[in-house]
Amino acid sequence: MAMKQPHVVIFPFPLQGHMKPLLCLAQLLCHAGLHVTYVNTHHNHQRLANRQALSTHFPTLHFESISDGLPEDDPRTLNSQLLIALKTSIRPHFGELLKTISLKAESNDALVPPPSCIMTDGLVTFAFDVAEELELPILSFNVPCPRYLWTCLCLPKLIENGQLPFQDDDMNVEITGVPGMEGLLHRQDLPGFCRVKQADHPSLQFAINETQTLKRASALILDTVYELDAPCISHMALMFPKIYTLGPLHALLNSQIGDMSRGLASHGSLWKSDLNCMTWLDSQPSKSVIYVSFGTLVHLTRAQVIEFWYGLVNSGNPFLWVMRSDITSGDHQIPAELEQGTKERGYIVDWVSQEEVLAHKSVGGFLTHSGWNSTLESIVAGLPMICWPNLGDQYIISRTVCRQWKIGLQLNENCDRSNIESMVQTLMGPKREEIQSSMDAISKLARDSVAEGGSSHNNLEQLIEYIRNLQH
Ligand code: UDX
Repeated sequence: MAMKQPHVVIFPFPLQGHMKPLLCLAQLLCHAGLHVTYVNTHHNHQRLANRQALSTHFPTLHFESISDGLPEDDPRTLNSQLLIALKTSIRPHFGELLKTISLKAESNDALVPPPSCIMTDGLVTFAFDVAEELELPILSFNVPCPRYLWTCLCLPKLIENGQLPFQDDDMNVEITGVPGMEGLLHRQDLPGFCRVKQADHPSLQFAINETQTLKRASALILDTVYELDAPCISHMALMFPKIYTLGPLHALLNSQIGDMSRGLASHGSLWKSDLNCMTWLDSQPSKSVIYVSFGTLVHLTRAQVIEFWYGLVNSGNPFLWVMRSDITSGDHQIPAELEQGTKERGYIVDWVSQEEVLAHKSVGGFLTHSGWNSTLESIVAGLPMICWPNLGDQYIISRTVCRQWKIGLQLNENCDRSNIESMVQTLMGPKREEIQSSMDAISKLARDSVAEGGSSHNNLEQLIEYIRNLQH
């Protein structure tokens, strides 16, 4: 009799940057024959591009959706409403859904086996209680940069040794209590919730408790290349029963299911991509374009938008700029004085297929907010970066990219037009060769890790084996 395949129920934190890597992993697990139920909120379920194509290509990939309990017009961004909805609405619906899936699997003609484990995003900590109630193993998938997770795991130690809360306003002081990040981490790299006056501040305590919950996971999955983050991972390995590094996941998917995957992976998108920009890119000289995107969560003031705009136009380089409709509360009208320069050299879009843009031969640099997905995508494409971090893990990523890996330049927090202009010119001109050569080495490491025999490739096989052995 054929062995029953395991069934993994995946629930991502319901935001774009968190959904895509988990959808990549879902496809990889289905490619290996496992059943996966990928659970979205109703809102995201309706917006997820080409869900149908994914189901057709992977017959063992099932989609389900649950209510987030938020009003239709809620912006559904990273805010307290969403965090509250997770615990009050999403948690009970998720528990109910799991029971329904298990009941369905008990019927004689069921095609889908009962859940063997739950896999959730590190931000979805309620799932630990649900999994424990149902006696299911839980695997925690960490979307942000692993160095950020490791730093958050060390916060109690930083409080204990007096480095937190900060004793004064000097943000340049080095943080020394995070093993593996010696000489790298400074106060300014820590996330916003660390900038509080008291150790028992609710935001700081909330972050600490949420992170400590992850230690209850049967295994931790990281979207990174082991060789890039080894100093931190070796310390984390003492806290978790198992760690699997599988990154860059989008590249692992591309390498395992070939050209097919490019379209399918980008189908993890909640927005519709502008395809005309690819034709515009075709008409630009090789490596001349600076691609600009601040991810899905960063908001700019109208004044900041104007500074970036001047900086880009004045740099003299062609630029492709993703200006999400909600990026600023001000209007998106081209300022009259920049109209000509934008017409001549600029292309502004709502959303692009970023992996394709980064791989385009005309693109020579990436002005980014240093989101972890964008950073990994830039590394795989071998594209030097200008980093303008804004929140969460972005500060640590930017620090690592610019100071340790030397594959990017860091823009000051207080961006002004002349700074942006000179930074773009430097990246696209005199510094390019030097940064490109570091980037080529890091990029090769990432690409090798997903190829046969590479660390991420091998770890995926081991993860699949591990999940198969979880079956009871
Ligand atoms: C945030 C944090 O910054 C990030 O570090 C964390 O891990 C997840 O939450 P976000 O702002 O969404 O992420 O940025 P990023 O992690 O870079 O993810 C953005 C994703 O959207 C990328 O996969 C990128 O390819 C995609 N994208 C962005 C597009 O496909 N098209 C676009 O036009 C812009």
